[in-house]
Amino acid sequence: MCGIVGIVGQDAVADGLIEALRRLEYRGYDSAGIATLEHGRLERRRAEGKLVNLRTRLEESPLTGTIGIGHTRWATHGRPNETNAHPHATARLAVVHNGIIENFRELKAELQGHGVRFESETDTEVVAQLVSHLMDGGLDPVAAVAAALPRLRGAFALGFVFAGHDDLLIGARHGAPLAIGFGQDKSGGGETYLGSDALALAPFTEEITYLEEGDWAVLSRAGAEIHDLSGAVVLRERQRIVAQAFRVEKGNHRHFMGKEIHEQPEVVGRTLAHYVDLSQGRVALPEALPFDFRDLSRLSITACGTAYYAGLVAKYWFEKLARLPVEIDVASEARYREPPLERDGLTLVISQSGETADTLASLRYAKAQGQHTLAVVNVPTSTIAREASAAVPTLAGPEIGVASTKAFSCQLTVLLCLAIAAGRARGTLSAEAERGLVDALITVPGLMADALQREGEVEGLAREIAKARDVLYLGRGTAYPMALEGALKLKEISYIHAEGYAAGELKHGPIALIDESVPVIVIAPHDAIFEKTVSNMQEVAARGGRIILIGDAKGAAAAGLDTMATVTMPDLDPVVAPIVYAVPIQLIAYHTAVFMGKDVDQPRNLAKSVTVE
Ligand code: AGP
Repeated sequence: MCGIVGIVGQDAVADGLIEALRRLEYRGYDSAGIATLEHGRLERRRAEGKLVNLRTRLEESPLTGTIGIGHTRWATHGRPNETNAHPHATARLAVVHNGIIENFRELKAELQGHGVRFESETDTEVVAQLVSHLMDGGLDPVAAVAAALPRLRGAFALGFVFAGHDDLLIGARHGAPLAIGFGQDKSGGGETYLGSDALALAPFTEEITYLEEGDWAVLSRAGAEIHDLSGAVVLRERQRIVAQAFRVEKGNHRHFMGKEIHEQPEVVGRTLAHYVDLSQGRVALPEALPFDFRDLSRLSITACGTAYYAGLVAKYWFEKLARLPVEIDVASEARYREPPLERDGLTLVISQSGETADTLASLRYAKAQGQHTLAVVNVPTSTIAREASAAVPTLAGPEIGVASTKAFSCQLTVLLCLAIAAGRARGTLSAEAERGLVDALITVPGLMADALQREGEVEGLAREIAKARDVLYLGRGTAYPMALEGALKLKEISYIHAEGYAAGELKHGPIALIDESVPVIVIAPHDAIFEKTVSNMQEVAARGGRIILIGDAKGAAAAGLDTMATVTMPDLDPVVAPIVYAVPIQLIAYHTAVFMGKDVDQPRNLAKSVTVE
């Protein structure tokens, strides 16, 4: 997903733009660039690859302008090279863009019909040429942007700077987030900023405004004038961002992912404290929910990737603890399958970023069907959080590593609290049963800290797993979605092919894959179905498969199997196993990828939040 920044400042802005882009690196990108106004003329510096290459360009050929825009590009249209890197420009303007202009081909053909020549393969250049063409027709920059926006279809955020206009930036939001920051330089001179999110603006200011869907804004050193879709001037809330929430350094870790795996006891504890009344031993949801679990005949859950696997775990919890039937689907399918949803039913969406296009589309479909919608999100100011009927936060803090870790365990924590609250409301959980579950939940941060103590065992495994071409993950019950998540973690950062299966499915086909070259990672807490999983492990061992057991000491002894390795987990109440067992499956993926020398925080082809279809 791309990152946008802009500054209309008092001093040279190039370094500030680069610093803001550095804070957006976590979104994933493959090229970067900036444009500034130099004595009334637009100058660009762009580079393929990481920001260090752009810095080199700027050292070779500095920019001194006091107004400019910048961009990190995650290629959607056109190869990741300098020609396609943003900003895209004409003699009149430069523009940066996050998202997809879906009708760019017809606009491009229309402009080519007017003799416009294009240099890149991107949809973004069409925006630059369209606004420029409107200015050629006599419109001033603001009028030209206002006229162009309704012509664009798709989900996008845009930032513009104009030749000859030293005190004018324009930003527009239509389906992708965009924020405005307000500040001043050291001598108190006014400055105004544009950024894809609060992280980008954190180096400059603590005072921000998020644009709403369809808003566009005219920025100057004096501030910002915000217009809604109709063009009317509107006021949007100014917020103070909590500076410490944006501590985005790695601390003493080599990677953000490593730091975030180790942050889990802290952030899961913080999340628990938000939802559990420790003195009463009960779940106490602080956010008022606009529905009653008693009235529901069914719960629909939709999400993508790791968030979807959290939802799969939640299905077991809601059905077992609250006797509430659950239907779940990946958002990219749910949004087009058009499932029949009853009015006043409930759809639960789960999203770390709160900006995933497919999940947002599924949310909007459910709302259109008259459903209550509840969002479990890690960014309370995100689009999904603001469009859902209600949102409950995962207090994981900013998750920078592209592979989701602490957000996942916080999602599971919130989802278990919701399932317990649902059980109490529906009368399927006694106060005593609820207290037992809350007592189990309260042990989770400590158990995760214990699990982290096994990191050395896991690190030694990594070199073995790194040799594999294929890896299988197996699990039963709530360990089945954990097998899917473990496989996703490994494949997305080590690029080793991995698949997760319900352990009982093994003999229905996947067992054909088993031989000594295929590590089989079995997630098996000592629960009521543990013996069934032992049988599956015996089937694997009988065919020379090499088993890595993630389980507790009791289980390992009971299994009595000759495993390749056992990652010994602390004894725990099986209901919370998915949260605690997230740690070893994350560590296995992390250390394997580190051993293989992969770009752990920004794996190839991936973005932190997929805001395009
Ligand atoms: C998780 O490791 C992946 N990076 C990816 O599957 C992610 O979970 C998915 O894109 C959903 O993102 P969201 O939680 O921000 O909606």
